[in-house]
Amino acid sequence: MAETRQSIHGQWTSRFAFILAATGAAVGLGNIWKFPYIAGENGGGAFVLVYLLCILLVGGPLLMSEILLGRRGRQNPINSIRSIAKDENRSKYWAVIGLMGIVASFLILSYYSVIAGWALDYVFKSGMGQFAGQNAQSIDATFDKFIANPWALIFWHTIIIGFTVFVVARGVQKGIESAVRFMFPLMVVLLLILVGYAMDTGYFFKGVEFLFHPDFAKLTPEGFLTALGHAFFTLSLATGSIMMYGAYVPKQSSIATAAIWIIIADTAVALISGLAIFPMVFANGLVPSAGPGLIFQTLPIAFGQMGFGRIFGTLFFIMLVIAAFTSAISLLEPTVAWLMERLKIMRLQATIFAGIGIWLLGIGTVLSFNAMPGHFLFGMNFFDFLDYLTANILLPLGGLLMIIFTAWVLPRHTTEDELNMKGKVYYRLWLYGSRFITPFAILVVFLGSLGLFNGF
Ligand code: PFF
Repeated sequence: MAETRQSIHGQWTSRFAFILAATGAAVGLGNIWKFPYIAGENGGGAFVLVYLLCILLVGGPLLMSEILLGRRGRQNPINSIRSIAKDENRSKYWAVIGLMGIVASFLILSYYSVIAGWALDYVFKSGMGQFAGQNAQSIDATFDKFIANPWALIFWHTIIIGFTVFVVARGVQKGIESAVRFMFPLMVVLLLILVGYAMDTGYFFKGVEFLFHPDFAKLTPEGFLTALGHAFFTLSLATGSIMMYGAYVPKQSSIATAAIWIIIADTAVALISGLAIFPMVFANGLVPSAGPGLIFQTLPIAFGQMGFGRIFGTLFFIMLVIAAFTSAISLLEPTVAWLMERLKIMRLQATIFAGIGIWLLGIGTVLSFNAMPGHFLFGMNFFDFLDYLTANILLPLGGLLMIIFTAWVLPRHTTEDELNMKGKVYYRLWLYGSRFITPFAILVVFLGSLGLFNGF
């Protein structure tokens, strides 16, 4: 029965370790690379407000649901959901949620690792002083030349996957937990150093104003959709990663408290990253709305012009690599757990198999920037296609099914028990939010992302 189920993969040493690992999974390229540029593209403050609302109404309830399912099932996402459904005499086909999660995590890691590889390359570019005194054209040319070379991208992609495999193969406590325990605090220290540097530019309050002064005229319907989609991505929801990490949580820990800490930490890192990045952008007369190139093109120009830019630029990219790495390990875990349980193989073998598969798929993303820039499917190149398929389809659909399964399909006493919230008013808040608000909000994004609201 659910109460006595144990994970064959191990357990965190404490609830704190879980919070750290899950926050490490949540904080990544999404917070430091993506959040600032989508905020920049969507006009800043008003977008940030909508994003915070999405985190609260969709992210929070779903994060609790996913941890709950993981801890109750204590297996890979497919088997966890199948067992829970069986315990409660519900259809075993709900396990499709777990399957979608595993597929999403596999696909996301294949391109996530390539982008994390760019950041790793930029640690060296910055460290060797390649940005010093350069102008916008020459920095753009450096970036274009870099991504045009498939061998360079494959090299860094291999290193990222290699290290990810190395850590995950060592297991939950010795691998994932010990890596996150020193990496996450280091990342936070680097971030704070960079904010201090940004304060020194004299443009800090321009950054604050950009992020927090809402100008609703700049908010488009797509901005809403982007904000909700990002709430999923940034909290690592619906990929099975959080479910796996939840499977290793000790029984007595409070899920709600853990979820609150993860959300606070993830949101704080996104906002603080914005406060580190935008003042540097403004101080150097650059534009905040450069899109995905904000970090790899705009920011190096700023570092190239600023005092001690070489040191702080290097620290910035080291921070980005660490943040991405603690997310990458969480993305590998669902496939590894599934292979171990399904094929009854050892963790080492499972990790190597999964790593090879993901590495191979990543080559498709690498080639999207050089040899295969043309259309792969539906007018998109391979990377854009994977990004679209995961962020706009698999995550929202998986999240929608997951919230329906936990809040509508599972009996109340089961969720109340697993959340340790018997008779608490917060339980009802979670339940009614999860039943009536979260699914509708997700539905709006999902239909919106399919273009159904175009023309409104
Ligand atoms: N949350 C990570 C980020 O913001 O970069 C990305 C991510 C990690 C998504 C793990 C999904 C996941 F399972």
